[in-house]
Amino acid sequence: MSAPRKVEVTGESGYSIEIGPGLLADGARLGKPLRGRHALIVSDGNVAPLYLDGVVAALAEARPGLQLARFVIPPGEHEKTLERFTQCLHALSELGATRDATVIALGGGVVGDLAGFAAACWMRGIDCVQLPTTLLAMVDSSVGGKTAVDLPSGKNLVGAFHPPRAVVADTAALRSLPERELRAGLAEVVKYGAIFDAGFLDWLDSHADALLARDGDALAEAIARSCAFKADVVARDPFERGDRAMLNFGHTFGHAIETEQGYAGTSGDGLNHGEAVAVGMVLAARLSAALGRSSGADADRLQRLLERLGLPVRIPAGLEPQALLARMRLDKKADAAGLRFILWDRAGAARIVSGVPDEQVLAVLAAG
Ligand code: GLY
Repeated sequence: MSAPRKVEVTGESGYSIEIGPGLLADGARLGKPLRGRHALIVSDGNVAPLYLDGVVAALAEARPGLQLARFVIPPGEHEKTLERFTQCLHALSELGATRDATVIALGGGVVGDLAGFAAACWMRGIDCVQLPTTLLAMVDSSVGGKTAVDLPSGKNLVGAFHPPRAVVADTAALRSLPERELRAGLAEVVKYGAIFDAGFLDWLDSHADALLARDGDALAEAIARSCAFKADVVARDPFERGDRAMLNFGHTFGHAIETEQGYAGTSGDGLNHGEAVAVGMVLAARLSAALGRSSGADADRLQRLLERLGLPVRIPAGLEPQALLARMRLDKKADAAGLRFILWDRAGAARIVSGVPDEQVLAVLAAG
């Protein structure tokens, strides 16, 4: 087995991201970041049957004195609630978790966000180790310390910045990932190329077939490069006061689509997050071109790459431009100055633009 790839997030609360096949069975590696005698593993009903016993066994062998407990939630975004968060805190209380305890998040973005938020709040903050099992979690949500739960009125409205102590991404877990989730994760991978590096878009284009075929080396390379982009921006701007907001490329449009569909992607009827971001990125690229900031050819090229990766690139039928615009106004990325978008100067170079006129946005939505 080749050595895992390693990406460092630098800064005061720096940490390592390790990426490679079989890491969930490596108890010594999983146990290394644990400082105390207690660990609570948080997972969900899809992931726990596949990996939880193995992780517990590996950790128990490597760290015989460790007191381990499990907290398993049903799968799905609708479980990322204050109620589950409270239950997670009770699980920590029952474990007798002390200030040197660790919460281990084993799963996708929902588990990572919930577990991370519980770790951020228990005794004013304990360690969290992220063990992402979806591509989306490996390249985005497990890195950077955003943690949250949803309220009925909106996603991620209650949360905290709480950097993990370590991230260990076992790429073998991607072999069992449903096809649609793999593609959704690839949308976030494309995003890094779109905002930071046109050369990475070329690399993705030439490796699209390998990525869709789940070639281990291609996936590990795509994850490591994505994490390196994210690590760099997070180290510069951990609390999203500036450049980190560029990671929201495609998200203003994407969130509006997801919200307008009532997050139906989680039940299979609408677009999921990655799919909505794919459509949103094409719309953001088209808006950039409409405002004369970038070329329409760049937007066409992005659209073709996303299509090659099996992602949607058009607004789903039945969603009205005016309704989507109204959703965008309520998005937490809107500010007092009005609608704010991440737009292109060209492929691989994005910037934050405020005060975009409604008519231009509506024209792009109507064409999209
Ligand atoms: N998912 C965007 C960020 O972590 O900032």
